[in-house]
Amino acid sequence: MKIQEHFSLKAYNTFGIEAKAKLFSEVTSLENLKEVYAHYSNEKKLPLGGGSNILLTKNFDGLVTKLNLLGKEVLKEDETHIWLKVGAGEVWHEFVLWAVENGWSGVENMSLIPGSVGAAPMQNIGAYGVELKDVFIELEAWLPEENTLEIFKNTACDFGYRSSIFKKHLKGKAIILNVTFKLSKQPKLNTSYGSIEDELIAMHVSSPSIKDISDAVVRIRQSKLPNPAEIGNAGSFFKNPVVSIETVQDLLKKHPSAPNYKVGDNLYKVPAGWLIETAGWKGRTYDERFGIHKNQALVLVNYKNTLGQEIFDLSENIIEDIEDKFKIELEREVNII
Ligand code: EPU
Repeated sequence: MKIQEHFSLKAYNTFGIEAKAKLFSEVTSLENLKEVYAHYSNEKKLPLGGGSNILLTKNFDGLVTKLNLLGKEVLKEDETHIWLKVGAGEVWHEFVLWAVENGWSGVENMSLIPGSVGAAPMQNIGAYGVELKDVFIELEAWLPEENTLEIFKNTACDFGYRSSIFKKHLKGKAIILNVTFKLSKQPKLNTSYGSIEDELIAMHVSSPSIKDISDAVVRIRQSKLPNPAEIGNAGSFFKNPVVSIETVQDLLKKHPSAPNYKVGDNLYKVPAGWLIETAGWKGRTYDERFGIHKNQALVLVNYKNTLGQEIFDLSENIIEDIEDKFKIELEREVNII
């Protein structure tokens, strides 16, 4: 058991925020994890995957555990499908590339999403018309308080838009160890999201393979979203709000071209990026250190030396302004620590 004290988390969060953990440990097995938790039973805990969906607003006065549980395994296969069990610590995009190279379809639209496999179910990651829940069979988690291992099937995870049971009443209570996916051996291409079709045309591809879809998604993401290795960020900082038809009608009176998508009975999703851009925030920078990204208003960025609290305060100001201007309440997608 290797423990480091007053350990900088800068390299462990994609925002690149400097904050310290009182105690820090990297674990490579469940035994390892149990041992560290037992030894520091009285400390506050923060389990960490790829650190791509957190904002550290202060030093963490407890134990941070980086989960490096690795492994990719074929569980079974039949004529049409393959079942894969993947360790929580595997890098999500590397898992996607492995699937794409083998011709297994289902995750190609979610190429280049930052983070780890274990973090993916936490918020039911999604992109370009596909969500994790579409390919998810089950996961295995350790519940430290009870010291039990539990299997959560798809329906038990209560997946919703960027949400799951692990973000709600099991928040902080379950550590995901591995995830089982069911992918298709017969490509089921999803090009319904407009920008994928446009990108395929730009790539001169008329009958796309899953590799083409993955490449198209990588190209779109690279053109719109800042690479966390270059500019600190955690992807979409806010969720796209879901509002009533009355709210959409009010919005359309003032902004006839406001984008909106029906997502349920009397429920419409309005892109937060559009609201934030229309309110004039896109591309603003503060002190050359942080701000709102110039190509995607949903993404807050740390150019250098920003405190997590400064990003948080900026997000508060944006939320208040959107409420004032559009009577729509934005909700953060990123976990505030
Ligand atoms: N838009 C603007 N201004 C902006 C950004 C977007 O007007 O600055 C408008 C676009 O014109 C478009 C609409 O908003 O009409 C949707 O934009 P986009 O396709 O870029 O997607 P998004 O709704 O902004 C969501 C996810 C992304 C995911 C993309 C593609 C959320 C919170 N975000 O963004 O996920 O990659 O769709 O599927 O749902 C993430 O969660 O970290 C993330 C990047």
